[in-house]
Amino acid sequence: MPDTRRLGFGPIAAPSGGVLVVFADESLRFGTRTRAILGSAADLVARAAKAERFTGKSGSALDLVAPAGLKASRLIVIGIGKAEERKSQDDVKLGGTARGRIPASAAEATVILELPGGALKAEAAADVALGATLRAYTFDRYKTKRKEGDEGPAKTKLTLGVADVAAARKAWSAREALADGVVLARDLVNEPPNVLYPAEFARRATALRKLGVAVDILDVKAMRRLGMGALLGVGQGSTHESRIAVMRWNGGKKGAAPLAFIGKGVCFDTGGISIKPAAGMEDMKGDMAGAACVTGLMHALAGRKARVNAIGAIGLVENMPDGNAQRPGDIVTSMSGQTIEIINTDAEGRLVLADVVHYINTKFKPKLMIDLATLTGAIMVALGQEHAGLFCNDDTLSERLIKAGLATGEKVWRMPLGPEYDKLIDSKFADMKNTGGRFGGSITAAQFIGRFVGKTPWAHLDIAGTGFASAASDINKSWGSGWGVRLLDRLVAEDYEG
Ligand code: BES
Ligand code: MN
Ligand code: ZN
Repeated sequence: MPDTRRLGFGPIAAPSGGVLVVFADESLRFGTRTRAILGSAADLVARAAKAERFTGKSGSALDLVAPAGLKASRLIVIGIGKAEERKSQDDVKLGGTARGRIPASAAEATVILELPGGALKAEAAADVALGATLRAYTFDRYKTKRKEGDEGPAKTKLTLGVADVAAARKAWSAREALADGVVLARDLVNEPPNVLYPAEFARRATALRKLGVAVDILDVKAMRRLGMGALLGVGQGSTHESRIAVMRWNGGKKGAAPLAFIGKGVCFDTGGISIKPAAGMEDMKGDMAGAACVTGLMHALAGRKARVNAIGAIGLVENMPDGNAQRPGDIVTSMSGQTIEIINTDAEGRLVLADVVHYINTKFKPKLMIDLATLTGAIMVALGQEHAGLFCNDDTLSERLIKAGLATGEKVWRMPLGPEYDKLIDSKFADMKNTGGRFGGSITAAQFIGRFVGKTPWAHLDIAGTGFASAASDINKSWGSGWGVRLLDRLVAEDYEG
């Protein structure tokens, strides 16, 4: 784990030095205890606000160096907007914003978690800590030199001032497991593909054993025995052998049907023989973001000892062109027995998922299945990077995912499924083909996976747009977003635990 956990809780009190961060609303009001801490410096803030035209708008900040009347070396006032318009999901963002305003060079910083309406409750304080931790995440293990002025990862020791320190620490211990899960997912997405090939990814999944997760690895021989021709066809052009990792967390009732989370883990996607253009191909190291999310989620669930039975299964392959690579025109037989005509070797993710989904469904009889995949460029055309595409055969599950999305800010948008779309992947030579033509590309990809699902409640999340970030956000500066870990942890906590 990187050095982002220099974070603790303390009482709401004036710090004896370092950076002091406080919150004000759009009327420049503070909480009563914050106001008391500021003392005569409140006057200074009022004058500086006027001079700087700081109005307390959400996300804005006022920065005062060596403020008279305070022991702090710097006072940062962060705007929260109209207090009555705040929603609970804003707490994570607030932590990110606060963390982002603290100079990396600061040795110590204290954030007073009080709004004009009163001190934040323990759960909200833990959310702020989560946001601050995620914002501080950096991926720089391959940087050996620093440019001048680049201070590298922040070393700041952060203290969050709260009303009830013990309660905040308790709430944070569960939230910290979630932070660790997101960080793990981001690390996996950011790793270069020469380091993180299928066997190495599988090895990292086995590290979850120390949290009490049972991890089984299927190698090529095992997959051949199971008849996984769809997945194996994708990996056959690579010198890196394919793997499946199955992670099981049994925190729920003994024998209760598990929730199954399934991730696309294409460690690098060249497109294969239907090779991709060169520009931007390096991004395809992130074509395992679905598998990264599933691994991070299992880490979070085990880390906080979630009262649920959950399975995380990831299909790990590398899609390469080679003398032995799969060709357009090939027909492969999936584990389900259904045959697939390969039209385009770049539509490989659905082939991997077909076998993993069928395997998990038949072996574990899960209560539901949710797969995550950076599956289609078409979903980015449709939804941009704001929403993941949601395809679902069950209205209850769909509503729960949408709700968890709004609560965490990892939003999903439901897309259609139906027989009119499904027939677009019928093949002349086999049971189906792996592409459905130019129109509705994300939908025909989802229909394809749906043919391996049976009657189990199932949701497919196309995260091609959300799995990696093209711009920094309040809670992430790195490329890998770790998208989906918070969403699914929330879904489990709200609807399937206890
Ligand atoms: N991994 C890609 C999809 C992708 C594109 C993810 C950009 C993230 C960013 C996937 O395997 C793919 O190549 N899909 C093709 C499907 C097509 C050949 C039917 C696509 O979307 O173009
Ligand atoms: Mn592809
Ligand atoms: Zn792909």
